[in-house]
Amino acid sequence: MNNIIITGSSQGIGAAIAKEWCKRDSNNFYYGISRWGDLDVTNYQLMDETISSYFENHQSKNISLINNAGIVSKGSIFEMTDKQWNDQFNTNINGVFYCSKIFSRECIKKSIGGKIINIASTAGLGARPGRAAYAASKAAVINFSLSLSQELRDYNIKVYCVCPGAVNTNMRKYLEPDDDFKNMMKPEIIGNFVCDLIYNGKYLDGQVLTIKQGGG
Ligand SMILES: NC(=O)c1ccc[n+]([C@@H]2O[C@H](COP(=O)([O-])OP(=O)(O)OC[C@H]3O[C@@H](n4cnc5c(N)ncnc54)[C@H](OP(=O)(O)O)[C@@H]3O)[C@@H](O)[C@H]2O)c1
Repeated sequence: MNNIIITGSSQGIGAAIAKEWCKRDSNNFYYGISRWGDLDVTNYQLMDETISSYFENHQSKNISLINNAGIVSKGSIFEMTDKQWNDQFNTNINGVFYCSKIFSRECIKKSIGGKIINIASTAGLGARPGRAAYAASKAAVINFSLSLSQELRDYNIKVYCVCPGAVNTNMRKYLEPDDDFKNMMKPEIIGNFVCDLIYNGKYLDGQVLTIKQGGG
């Protein structure tokens, strides 16, 4: 069995990754974590119970975690409330820290190695006026991924960081409602890219992998 655990699997990019993964092989299974199923990545205790119990009840030699759950709020620093700032950091980077820590601990206990794929954003690589909290939280995901990749190397756990540009999902519709959605990258492209990484990404860990349309 080849298993993946995906956070934020209820829609958008997470749902596309889950679909592509199951399409590729009848031995591929996914476990989805999203608020829709009352599983919130900002709750450490809940993530600990959920991921540990997954490892107790599933035998797998090939297991990957995809940290995809994310939120964004629009607004300048004068408009951004403390709560909006903290919510974005709690979901976008604290959630990645929690799930990565628990997942790698369980992989190490079972001596099975593993893969962690963090979905950051091109927003983490440059200025995003009007959504600085989101951009800063994604910059944190990028650096966390690079550091984690080196920390976990000796345990045979590979860490990848994917930075998509604009993707046609509800998040993008909220951010930029006037974009040209017809010609925008579809979530399936990211689904494919992530599954390819799991299968063939031997030499791509510990790097920042950008996938975007020209200028996107
Ligand atoms: N769309 C883009 O243009 C774009 C570009 C670059 C990077 N990204 C990144 O790609 C990832 C997916 O984005 P998307 O566009 O697919 O967004 P989306 O359609 O809004 O989906 C976000 C997903 O995250 C889940 N989620 C949010 N907060 C959560 C929490 N606290 N606990 C568990 N799940 C939570 C949502 O679950 P519920 O449905 O249950 O709320 C949903 O499944 C995000 O990290 C985003 O920052 C997106």
